[in-house]
Amino acid sequence: MHPSAPATIEIPSNLYKPNAPFSATVLGNHRVTDPSSPNDVRHVTFDLAGGNLTYLEGQSLGVLPPGIDAATQKPHKLRLYSIASTAQGDNGKGHTVSLCVKRVAYTCPQTGNEIKGVCSNFVCDLQPGDTVQVTGPVGKSFLMPNALGAPPNANVIMVATGTGIAPFRAFVKKRFENQTQESGQYWLFFGVQSRADFMYESEWQTYQNDSAFHLVTAFSREEKTDAGERMYVQHRLAEHGAQLLSLLTQPNTYFYICGLRGMEAGIHAGLTTAAQAAGQDWPALHAQMQAEHRWHVEVY
Ligand code: FAD
Ligand code: A2P
Repeated sequence: MHPSAPATIEIPSNLYKPNAPFSATVLGNHRVTDPSSPNDVRHVTFDLAGGNLTYLEGQSLGVLPPGIDAATQKPHKLRLYSIASTAQGDNGKGHTVSLCVKRVAYTCPQTGNEIKGVCSNFVCDLQPGDTVQVTGPVGKSFLMPNALGAPPNANVIMVATGTGIAPFRAFVKKRFENQTQESGQYWLFFGVQSRADFMYESEWQTYQNDSAFHLVTAFSREEKTDAGERMYVQHRLAEHGAQLLSLLTQPNTYFYICGLRGMEAGIHAGLTTAAQAAGQDWPALHAQMQAEHRWHVEVY
């Protein structure tokens, strides 16, 4: 099937809306960064039983934090979070969904006070049994190749920074645990500050013996480039440029970026370098991938 063929499976969308959200019960909440890291990232699982909230890998969920926004005197706005579990849920039985949420806190530049992000702190502090108003699922294009009409031999290149790993945990789990008929190569480039932030490390290890799984990390505060800069995902892309370019020129290769908004420009720079070395024109190849729905970006 041509890569730009329309989706062949039904995509659930906005089954629950902000004016009629689903009340999900927390099943679990555990930290996925090492205690030695200053970054508190949580894997939080919710029970969806009793509703009809289904989703596909790559979609996001809305969370409505309780309370009133002091500035607007209106209820807090919804925040989106990428779904980190497969459609079967972490228990493999359906009716659950998991998120990967980083606790946001920063010093206000004006007052010097510490400000805690409203929704991320709410989610990170949840306890089993708590209930949360959720909406969604959201997203019709940041989906696995099979949901986009691709053949089962689709190659997938994923580039994540920080919690941008969430959808790729689901993609990789689906590919290597559930979808035995899939045969494509899966490359995952994952950038975090340090090894202590290497989320889901034990899960990646379980796929390491599969020759179709390629994991490349960039620990920005522990590793440096030859030029002495912080090691970022785009530097790792450039290092593997020849292999990536040979995949990208194939019509069954799909590219996904998720995480920090600022990462996209560096990725284009990395791939431009790699394309030049391979005698390819990156802007032209990128445009072709976009036209064929093989280029997907979710940054925030
Ligand atoms: P808020 O109370 O909304 O505060 C955040 C705001 O504070 C920022 O918008 C900015 O204005 C300000 N701010 C933040 N840091 C600083 C700083 N250092 N200096 C000055 N001002 C600052 N997040 C995840 O953790 N995991 C995910 O999987 C995830 N997926 C997402 C998917 C999508 C499609 C989108 C759009 C966003 C996603 N996010 C994810 C981000 C998430 O939606 C929230 O934006 C995030 O959790 C912060 O929300 P909050 O309510 O805690 O912070
Ligand atoms: P660093 O913060 O060391 O500069 P975060 O922890 O904020 O979610 O970030 C995840 C990773 O993304 C960190 O290693 C961070 O590096 C890195 N990063 C920051 N800016 C960029 C960028 N423009 N391109 C790629 N990676 C980036």
